Amino acid sequence: MKESISKKLAGMTLEEKLCQLTQLDGSFLPDISDTAVTGPMSRLSLKKSDIDSLGSVLNIQNPDSVRKAQRGHMETDRNRIPLLFMHDIVHGCKTVYPIPLGMAASFSPELMRECAEMAAEECKLSGVDVTFSPMVDYIRDARWGRVMESTGEDVYLNALYAAAQVKGYQSRGIASCIKHFAAYGAPEAGRDYNTVDMSERTLREYYLPAYHAAVDADAYMVMTSFNSLNGIPAAANEALVRGILREEWGFDGVVISDYNAFNEMMTHGIAETSEDCAYLAMRATNDIEMMSVNYIHSIKKLIDDGRISTEQVDSAVERVLELKEKLGMFDNPYQHCEQHTGESCILSAEHRALARKAAEKSAVLLENRNLLPFSKEVRRIAIIGPFGDTGEIIGAWSGFGNPRDTVSLKDGVQQLLPNAEVITLRGVDGAINAKADPEEIRKAAKLASACDIVILTLGEPSGDSGEGTSKQNLELPSAQYELFRAVQAGNPNTAVVLFTGRPLVLTTLSKECSALLNVWQPGTEGGSAIANLLFGEAEPEGRLTMSFPAATGQCPIHYNHMNTGRPRADDLHRYGYCSSYIDGPNEPLYPFGYGLGYTGFEYTDLSLSSDSMSSGDTITASVTVTNVGNRVGTETVQLYLRDLVGSVVRPVKELKGFCKVTLAPGEKQVVSFEISEEMLKFLRADMTFGTEPGEFRVFIGHSSACTGYLSFRLK
Ligand code: BGC
Repeated sequence: MKESISKKLAGMTLEEKLCQLTQLDGSFLPDISDTAVTGPMSRLSLKKSDIDSLGSVLNIQNPDSVRKAQRGHMETDRNRIPLLFMHDIVHGCKTVYPIPLGMAASFSPELMRECAEMAAEECKLSGVDVTFSPMVDYIRDARWGRVMESTGEDVYLNALYAAAQVKGYQSRGIASCIKHFAAYGAPEAGRDYNTVDMSERTLREYYLPAYHAAVDADAYMVMTSFNSLNGIPAAANEALVRGILREEWGFDGVVISDYNAFNEMMTHGIAETSEDCAYLAMRATNDIEMMSVNYIHSIKKLIDDGRISTEQVDSAVERVLELKEKLGMFDNPYQHCEQHTGESCILSAEHRALARKAAEKSAVLLENRNLLPFSKEVRRIAIIGPFGDTGEIIGAWSGFGNPRDTVSLKDGVQQLLPNAEVITLRGVDGAINAKADPEEIRKAAKLASACDIVILTLGEPSGDSGEGTSKQNLELPSAQYELFRAVQAGNPNTAVVLFTGRPLVLTTLSKECSALLNVWQPGTEGGSAIANLLFGEAEPEGRLTMSFPAATGQCPIHYNHMNTGRPRADDLHRYGYCSSYIDGPNEPLYPFGYGLGYTGFEYTDLSLSSDSMSSGDTITASVTVTNVGNRVGTETVQLYLRDLVGSVVRPVKELKGFCKVTLAPGEKQVVSFEISEEMLKFLRADMTFGTEPGEFRVFIGHSSACTGYLSFRLK
């Protein structure tokens, strides 16, 4: 332990130590809340001295309040240990970039990192020392509203994005708290907070790697999750937190609970009293308790009873103090809430340009029947639908972002084409249960037919994804379909622009539309980015990192699934039964890796440098990619492997590499990937990690649905 930290620790009372392990929101602080003493503080039966020596605060909205709170705290805390201020800066602070699921479609960890750096620079001026980000939960079920915060269903890609975000924040002096440890992304039936029950194999192969990558990238904090995992809520799960996170992976940073999760141990039914909660949480090595006060109320008794040791408490406090020191809080408690005069990077032209680029790179063109890009010569443009004339497209969990600073689609189009006439009409409300008004639908059809082109905005409002927004039905609301049909009939030159935080079921729309561009929740520069994409100033190059199901009943669905003994209809079992549905396909509507551009690419001449690999060798897999369209375009070339026979059933495909190539019309390029033995390792039947000899298939293609392959044998 550093001398400065041990000195501080030695001078603290137990009560003061427990306060370091407690996090409350700003309403508890007397300096920024008039109601603190009589209101929430009394609700949690806290003493003034508890608040005086509190360790950290979440959710204060502006640097002035943070400054005031810190100043008040430094005057009252006997030990003069600064508060840490934490907030959810999930996809941008004030300049907001697309939601993480959208960012992931860029297939660019570098871009993700740049955006995290931008967010951190703005945090430094906004009173935020720690961001509760990235969420690195692995996901497969679009019914779960929080898929928007994840980067998708692929293990390899998620790990790259997790590390990129942690490095982005922390290289700019903001601590990253990864969440939610662990397997929060697998709630039964896609219902938020629900039970998670899974084998250790699935946990380790799919769910843990991104957290591990974030820990390896030196994330300073980890948040435990709300869910129970195999019967034990994560915050109380000693095998998970102490066992895997700390002992196996060597994480020595700060573990924080999720909001009120200590109390929820009682609701889960694994604790009867506050004392039980504190005991279980401390035993699992949670350091900070968020928005509850079981440590403050119960640890003393647990120590007196010999159930918790003072060393356990000291280790937790030491980790919190070390974090404060790492962040430079002892040198300058006000570093992220100082009053700044000069020029600010917040919403600067440079930051806006990056947010715009990110929104362009994350958009995924799902359908295009020779409609896009639109010509810039068009004179009359209708923008119809609930999301065309609003800054609310900034997205859920948008930090300190403000819809008023956000470029709406209407403004984006008008700025790009100042001489065009742009007419907007809402047509229907975006809410799930909205009813279509026949008069408005008629007006929309009439407007559509009176314009050269139509941009029709459909999807879900930002507030319909994020925490607590699970859905049973992923179809577009019927009112939106009515609007679509009327508009499309009125003018076939209609491009649907889809705003969504999750994969939706677009089976009907996909067949009937002329073009479908998914822009997710695109952030502050959404409108300009979409305009650039629609009118060919930018090329859509996003590729899905989460399957779009053909029907809600397919969920959970993911490309990297295991094979079964009776896999599919074209391989019929002799009794006629196979693992399929009687009323629809197994395949998603749009698979992982899918996305169109404004040109086309052909893959030919797949080759392998050898048809066998010895231990320690590598094999080079190559393919020729040709731009067969008539525009320059960028393709994301994807490498998938399949281990044909193992001691356990192996996934039908796993992404192992990707690269982007930009080609002029007619241009071709040979793209090569090196396959190493490392890429062939997996958790074998005996739970050791390694390879097994046998045949491997190599696929290189446009998406996870690519079928051509070559094989080699690992000796
Ligand atoms: C969410 C976390 C978030 C925390 C603090 C919780 O409800 O699950 O992701 O970081 O609140 O805002």
